[in-house]
Amino acid sequence: MTELVLTEKNNHILTVRINRLDRKNALTHDMYTALGDAIEQAQNDSDIRCLLYTGSEDCFTAGNDLGDFAAGLPGDFEDTPVGRFLFLLATTNKPIVAAVNGPAVGIGTTMLLHCDLVFAGNNTHFQMPFANLGLCPEGGSSLLLPSWLGRVRAAELLMLGDAFTADDALRMGLINRACKPAQTETAALEACTRLAAQPPAAIRATRELLNRATAEELKTTMLAEGKLFAERLKSPENAEAITAFTEKRKPDFSNFS
Ligand code: COA
Repeated sequence: MTELVLTEKNNHILTVRINRLDRKNALTHDMYTALGDAIEQAQNDSDIRCLLYTGSEDCFTAGNDLGDFAAGLPGDFEDTPVGRFLFLLATTNKPIVAAVNGPAVGIGTTMLLHCDLVFAGNNTHFQMPFANLGLCPEGGSSLLLPSWLGRVRAAELLMLGDAFTADDALRMGLINRACKPAQTETAALEACTRLAAQPPAAIRATRELLNRATAEELKTTMLAEGKLFAERLKSPENAEAITAFTEKRKPDFSNFS
């Protein structure tokens, strides 16, 4: 149990709130475990018809805790807390809605690729700075983004790792609606309420069918990404990026080959 991820069940909706604001909701191993547990809870409880992921009006998540990266990813990727969470997220048949504001960085963006409806405040800062950190894509993003957005746009987001706004995300079809930050969660909750009122087996079947075409390839891709990600975490490039973040300076990759 961690207080850093809060869950609350109400009206058939399980709200999962990331709650580590002093660290911009950066995710630790324990927090990934709690996020995965919430999906298992929803999967095993027929009274839960929809999951809502959110943070606060100012922050969804700054992604993986950069300090935790130093500990690496031991063992098989799918058994690590982050791997288990991502696989549960990609395979659950309960519908998932996200309400995001402020930073939605790294996995804060890639986890949204597995949500069914996404609402984002116009203060949202989406970013997938994996390459910038000496890492590689994760969460199936190297498969899903090129097929959804086209190869060059995916490469731009994953190689240059620039931040993008809710309006950009809306234009690219990555979110359903850009909102005023104070209204993001309300809009998402309204969508959850509508989903929870739909015939539940039909909604589960629809989610399964929406995921079916990519399910096998997604699994293979997520395993390949996880293996490479674990290797990259041990790279001098990643060490330089993390040191630079800690020292609040720009990383210098000029000496790497
Ligand atoms: N892991 C650990 N700590 C983090 C963190 C992370 N991913 N993101 C932010 N923090 C910490 C900061 O170190 C800072 O701690 P301090 O107060 O002790 O200095 C605190 O949270 C507040 O962050 P700060 O950078 O001052 O907030 P900001 O509003 O200026 O910027 C971000 C927000 C998200 C743009 C910026 O924090 C950032 O780029 N974080 C790293 C994101 C990242 O690379 N994630 C991994 C992706 S794979």
